Amino acid sequence: MPRPKTKFTIRDEFCIETKAKPCGMIIFGASGDLASRKLIPSLYNLYCRQLLPTTFYVLGCARTPMTEHEFRDKARQSLRSSKIETINCEKFVKSCYYLSGDYGDIKTYAALSAKIKNLNKQYSTNNNRIFYLSTPPSIYQIIMDNLQKNDLFSDSADKQPWTRIIVEKPFGYDLTSALKLDKNFHNYLNENQIYRIDHYLGKETVQNILIFRFANSIFEPIWNRNYIDHIQITVAESIGVGHRAGYFNKSGLLRDMFQNHMVQMLSLVAMEPPVSFKADHVRDQKAKLLESINPFNIKNIKNSVVRAQYKKGHIAGKPVKGYRDEDNVPAESITETYVAMKIMIDNWRWQGVPFYLRSGKRMPSKKSEIAVVFKKIPHCIFSPISPDEFSRNTLVFNVQPEEGIELGIQAKHPGPKLCMSSLTMDFKWRNIFGSQPPEAYERLLLDCMLGDQTLFIRHDNMKLSWELFTPILEHWAKSEKKLDFYEAGSQTVQEADNLLKQNAHKWREI
Ligand code: BG6
Repeated sequence: MPRPKTKFTIRDEFCIETKAKPCGMIIFGASGDLASRKLIPSLYNLYCRQLLPTTFYVLGCARTPMTEHEFRDKARQSLRSSKIETINCEKFVKSCYYLSGDYGDIKTYAALSAKIKNLNKQYSTNNNRIFYLSTPPSIYQIIMDNLQKNDLFSDSADKQPWTRIIVEKPFGYDLTSALKLDKNFHNYLNENQIYRIDHYLGKETVQNILIFRFANSIFEPIWNRNYIDHIQITVAESIGVGHRAGYFNKSGLLRDMFQNHMVQMLSLVAMEPPVSFKADHVRDQKAKLLESINPFNIKNIKNSVVRAQYKKGHIAGKPVKGYRDEDNVPAESITETYVAMKIMIDNWRWQGVPFYLRSGKRMPSKKSEIAVVFKKIPHCIFSPISPDEFSRNTLVFNVQPEEGIELGIQAKHPGPKLCMSSLTMDFKWRNIFGSQPPEAYERLLLDCMLGDQTLFIRHDNMKLSWELFTPILEHWAKSEKKLDFYEAGSQTVQEADNLLKQNAHKWREI
């Protein structure tokens, strides 16, 4: 049956917009994948939307020998796939510069220092600068030490001249290494200069969770254990590990997706209302939420956490390899490509409400969503139908691929008979606002230029997240039972299904 169409009208628009001060962005790892797929196109999109500061430059720095001319060519190439029409591309590309050099060589930093000085003069950026660390984390320390030695850090986050630093994930490998890394950053910078990035926080629907919860009055009263039965958070990807096997095989899915993206989405859905949308008010509530999570220990890990790896299978009708047959993956690898878990939150709002989180590679399709499943009706007046026969109201935040929000409700079919069915009120971002939502990095890069840390991870949030997951990593390292397996492209990961069966729940379809 065709789905009914719901019409939404945009009425009052409130925009909070400020302009960033002139600055430069120095990207380490600028010849890499992230820079050309995300960073350069996002900066360009900001430029096209006239959101960049009046004067702004990009200085790429990486080991790959490349002339400035070649770097600009590479930038042009990456803009071709940009979501925005390539207008004014040349003017933007001309503000991109490049310097190649070894990260451990002092000569690199002498040259960098001189180049930054010139660009600062040329662009009148008042020595305001953002360093973006997009290299493998093993190189962070050496870059930081050398920037400090060359006096490239100012000690302010917002008084001119300011220095801010954006750090890509993974931030550490476990609790100990993350704390060590953090300490090293704090040797040179204050916390309000450090922007630990999680691109999920830049996604429109993820940000919409806060607007939805705290800019509407009708949801907050029912946002608790009295009305909500359970919550499912899913990030499924149909891709495998591709060319990232070297990194992924050491990391595994728990570190790659849970310590950051999954925990951030959980925090936004479950945290208490912050006093305001100021960075620390929001991050205080996230910290409180993380502190309320029932910690994992040997006993509950066995019943609450599932790890699995994909075997060969089919995706969209095409055969795909098993994880162990992927290039650069050892034949005996026990790295998990799928994790599912049940999280319980010990506070007044959520006591007894299971939060089910799952993420995996080589799932049937790419789909990220947060589904809030409400309790069944307490009594049914439409005898002989029993309350159990109605599907539960479910509110879904569709993060991707089709951004939007939907609400499943029961309604009467037109006609003289008493017939009911479930239908979905469906808000699709694309239908209302046109085209695609902006790339997540756009918002985050702009926020960093504006000095707004709301959507970046504070050090205590990062620490609490590692504290939560490190016992699982330690348990797995010692555990005799290694892994479960699932067929690539399959909906079912048996142990994960069993995890929900304990409470008579079922995963939503991917
Ligand atoms: C990254 C992970 O942080 O997020 C990748 O390292 C994953 O393994 C990616 O594929 C998913 O991001 P998105 O935006 O495509 O959902």
